Amino acid sequence: MPVGPVTIDTLRELFPVCERLAYLNAGTDGPLPARAAQAGAGELRRAAERGRSREHFERRSELSAALRGSYAKALGCDPADVALTTCTSEGLAIVLLGLDLRQGDEIVTSDEEHPGLLGTLGALRELRGVSIRQAPFDRVHEAVRSSTRVVACSHVSFMTGRLAPAQLADVEVPVLLDGAQGVGAIACDLDELGCDAYAGAGQKWLCGPDGTGMLYVSKRLLPQLLLFRRGYGNLVDPDAGIDARPHEDARRFDSPALSAETLASALAAIEPLEQAGWRAVHERARSLASQLAERLASNGRAVTPRGPTTLVSFSSPDAPAERDRLSERGIVLRDIPGRPLLRASVGAWNDERDLERLHHALA
Ligand SMILES: Cc1ncc(COP(=O)(O)O)c(C=O)c1O
Repeated sequence: MPVGPVTIDTLRELFPVCERLAYLNAGTDGPLPARAAQAGAGELRRAAERGRSREHFERRSELSAALRGSYAKALGCDPADVALTTCTSEGLAIVLLGLDLRQGDEIVTSDEEHPGLLGTLGALRELRGVSIRQAPFDRVHEAVRSSTRVVACSHVSFMTGRLAPAQLADVEVPVLLDGAQGVGAIACDLDELGCDAYAGAGQKWLCGPDGTGMLYVSKRLLPQLLLFRRGYGNLVDPDAGIDARPHEDARRFDSPALSAETLASALAAIEPLEQAGWRAVHERARSLASQLAERLASNGRAVTPRGPTTLVSFSSPDAPAERDRLSERGIVLRDIPGRPLLRASVGAWNDERDLERLHHALA
């Protein structure tokens, strides 16, 4: 365990899983730092010893404010534009349901999307008669037409690690980005991306516990979104009963019951990444990922076309079997369902030894 401020060179020491495994799976769930496990356990102990009354709820709101601040820094936006969610999929659903789309409305999406987005799109088609138009990921912007109400697609494709086309910034309808493989992994410039909403995960590239996530909503889009969930946590004046009003800012979209242990653990996970510096964290991960891609290609594995991201997908004729074989050798990565591909997720906590282990095992 490093003493003093964490640097990019000492970051790896925070992750017990990295002592044993070549952990290349942050695109599914990031490695959890020991201090995040301790912080979560500490909150539970405190609740067990002191009970859960006023002080406990004040603690929850302090932790929420701190985590919102950290997520806003990772996204480069105003904390007032960030809601705390439980996962990416929840943030996507809040926006897509909030748009109140009906028959005759169309959502444009891509052919490389995750069930976290496709699930809500399927529900809107079935329950509201909304049309879903799927276009090739790299040309998704070209599919927008007069009936299109929103474009919803990944910032970074979970299948290939490609980036969404820059032209999305110029489309005339709101753009909702699925940032599950974006925030924490690569720099997010929301202005440059030109999106009105961005849903991200806390448990992947921010190394937090399961059940954490964020949703950015622009000041322009927020008033256009219906809000179906109101409860103690997102009301300004909960004591006003049925007349109570939700917060004016993105806090209105907060998940209703994020626990102190979840919030504290997420904060303890993100703080060392902030200390190491987002720029350094992104640069180290991106550069290791590109080294991995080059070496795999020179060793005869076909690497799918990718962007300057942290995901590397490569050919594997029987990917589930090879994934299991690698797992037996202490190398953790995933296969892409239905495609002959394995995907390695490379983070700033990884090092050349992890990549070496993978190359050696694939040889
Ligand atoms: C692109 C993408 N979207 C959504 C999800 C689902 O994320 P969550 O579990 O945070 O909802 C994933 C998870 O792997 C993903 O890769």
